[in-house]
Amino acid sequence: MKNTLVSLILIALLLHNIEAFECDRSATTCETKLVISHFVTMVHPTERAVYLSDGKLYRYDVTNTSAATPINASEVIIGDGFEQKKLVVVFNMSMPGPDIIVYEGQRLLMTVVNELYSEAVTVHWHGLPQRGSPYMDGVPFVTQCPIEPGTSFRYDFIARPSGTYWYYSNMGGQRTGGAFGALIIRENESNSLEEHIIQIQDWSHNYVTDLAFQQWKNGGVINRFREPNPQILDGSILNFISIDSALINGKGRFKSTDTNDYNSTPLEIYNVKLGRQYRFRVVGVGSSHPFRVSVDNHILSVVATDGYDVRPIYHTSRGEI
Ligand SMILES: *[C@@H]1O[C@H](CO)[C@@H](O)[C@H](O)[C@H]1NC(C)=O
Ligand SMILES: *[C@@H]1O[C@H](CO)[C@@H](O)[C@H](O)[C@H]1NC(C)=O
Ligand SMILES: *[C@@H]1O[C@H](CO)[C@@H](O)[C@H](O)[C@H]1NC(C)=O
Ligand SMILES: *[C@@H]1O[C@H](CO)[C@@H](O)[C@H](O)[C@H]1NC(C)=O
Repeated sequence: MKNTLVSLILIALLLHNIEAFECDRSATTCETKLVISHFVTMVHPTERAVYLSDGKLYRYDVTNTSAATPINASEVIIGDGFEQKKLVVVFNMSMPGPDIIVYEGQRLLMTVVNELYSEAVTVHWHGLPQRGSPYMDGVPFVTQCPIEPGTSFRYDFIARPSGTYWYYSNMGGQRTGGAFGALIIRENESNSLEEHIIQIQDWSHNYVTDLAFQQWKNGGVINRFREPNPQILDGSILNFISIDSALINGKGRFKSTDTNDYNSTPLEIYNVKLGRQYRFRVVGVGSSHPFRVSVDNHILSVVATDGYDVRPIYHTSRGEI
């Protein structure tokens, strides 16, 4: 009984954490918290071991592997569904971390709690000019002393200008390890367009950046052959961070070379109505591979980048028109 109660409370907390933080439009100050910690992919915080089958996640009974119960995919850090676990660094036990949505001119007070055991942290608010508050920019050893394990720091700055931004840990490989989330600063005037957030990233399910860096620096080999540097669509040779899959809002499908087929990871679903216009806020949260974004049989019009409006550029899946 006691255990059930504890699990219920835990699940309720976890569900609460992954909801977006949206500041009231009339508030002058918005205050919230982000907790950074380690976790692993493909593990449920209370149900433990999970596996993927036919687009659903199941928890399995370790004493009887043919007994399995479906579980809620939103409670697991899935990545590309690769069953072998990967160590991640995340905000509020989710990847991406919670969406932070505020209005232009509001003061944002964000306490960052470092629950990592041995690494320090800073949080960078990508794209924000931080005019008048350079010491809140989150650059370790340059604009602040990093937040030591077991301690916290309160970021305090005015959210401006309006636009699509993201936050992430700026220490070592923590960002590529999963510590990122969207920061949206809405305009004061109400905008009738419904919004959706798309966070796109390249994903490697068995590399961590620090290991990848060491392998590159000291000679990476696979099966006694030198590991090739990945090449992108335009022929450029990229750095050493390999890519297994592409993720949207932390979820994507892995194509196995054994079966030459994709697995069935549950994907992010955007519900839209025919004939309506939407604003998609697209954030590239990856490590090194760029992505071309299009929606089949639809025209995308690019209206702004970071906090700046641009003359609209129209895109289809065949490129610019
Ligand atoms: C993150 O988690 C903390 C601790 O559970 C919670 O207090 C806070 O509201 C969460 N932050 C957001 C932005 O959801
Ligand atoms: C294992 O689980 C299956 C499916 O739920 C069940 O039919 C079987 O009886 C279980 N075996 C044992 C030894 O409990
Ligand atoms: C899974 O969790 C999400 C997010 O909290 C919730 O909206 C949804 O109803 C849950 N689904 C099930 C089947 O419990
Ligand atoms: C939006 O409102 C805030 C606070 O009232 C103000 O500082 C800011 O300049 C306004 N932005 C625009 C574009 O009018």
